[in-house]
Amino acid sequence: MQIENSTVLITGANRGIGLAFAKAFLVRGAKKVYAGSRDPSKMNLAGVTPIKLEVNSSADVQAAAQLAQDVTIVVNNAGIANFGSFMAEDAEAMLRNHLETNVLGPLRISRAFAPVLAQNGGGALINVASIASWITSPKLANYAVSKSALWSLSNGLRNDLRGQGTQVLTLHMGFVDTDLTKGIDMPKSTPEAIVERTLQALEAGAHEVLADEMTQQVKASLSAEQAVYLAAR
Ligand SMILES: NC(=O)c1ccc[n+]([C@@H]2O[C@H](COP(=O)([O-])OP(=O)(O)OC[C@H]3O[C@@H](n4cnc5c(N)ncnc54)[C@H](OP(=O)(O)O)[C@@H]3O)[C@@H](O)[C@H]2O)c1
Repeated sequence: MQIENSTVLITGANRGIGLAFAKAFLVRGAKKVYAGSRDPSKMNLAGVTPIKLEVNSSADVQAAAQLAQDVTIVVNNAGIANFGSFMAEDAEAMLRNHLETNVLGPLRISRAFAPVLAQNGGGALINVASIASWITSPKLANYAVSKSALWSLSNGLRNDLRGQGTQVLTLHMGFVDTDLTKGIDMPKSTPEAIVERTLQALEAGAHEVLADEMTQQVKASLSAEQAVYLAAR
């Protein structure tokens, strides 16, 4: 998928990795970037078109798809990650929240924009998953369930949209230096490095990008007897 002259819509574009996507698409010559945000007044990046987009609001999602009929690339980036184990008192509510935003949100967006992508020649859909698709750290257990589900959703969407020529690219990576990882003292990639690898993969026609070494190791270990997920801490 060519980025030059594309029209992009990104969810959660007001900060973190979403903001890095918006900047990078502009630098690479996208014609237009719709920057989705729950509060578009927070969007102050020159050159983008802010758009109100709470991914858990069907009304917002439908309105965005009506307005942005020229979109050729959709990035399902918006997501939440809250600490909590399955033994916590509020585990059910916590899991429901993660599934709502991290799985049903991308599903809503993908369903609403699939006809838009089709009418514009197929285009591409990027789903921002995580290393947590394949490893369940106890502190981020609910998050991990949601990212495993998003991986599966993304694989299913690839099947559903193949006929209309949509490239579905799933991004997996470990810790990235954003608000989401604020209290986590671990090595982190920069959002810019992750986005750069993703856009290279997009232009190369890839279906999956493992954007750092740790993620490559975890994925490679899936079929090993001592798979990394068996010893997650
Ligand atoms: N950072 C990491 O280490 C890491 C690693 C792997 C994967 N990821 C994934 O990368 C994506 C971006 O993460 P990030 O690190 O950039 O996080 P972040 O800095 O916390 O930003 C999250 C973004 O998502 C938006 N958002 C959250 N819930 C939303 C909703 N219901 N509707 C619309 N927007 C919503 C936020 O909007 P508000 O400003 O309105 O809250 C914000 O723009 C997420 O899917 C995350 O799971 C991150």
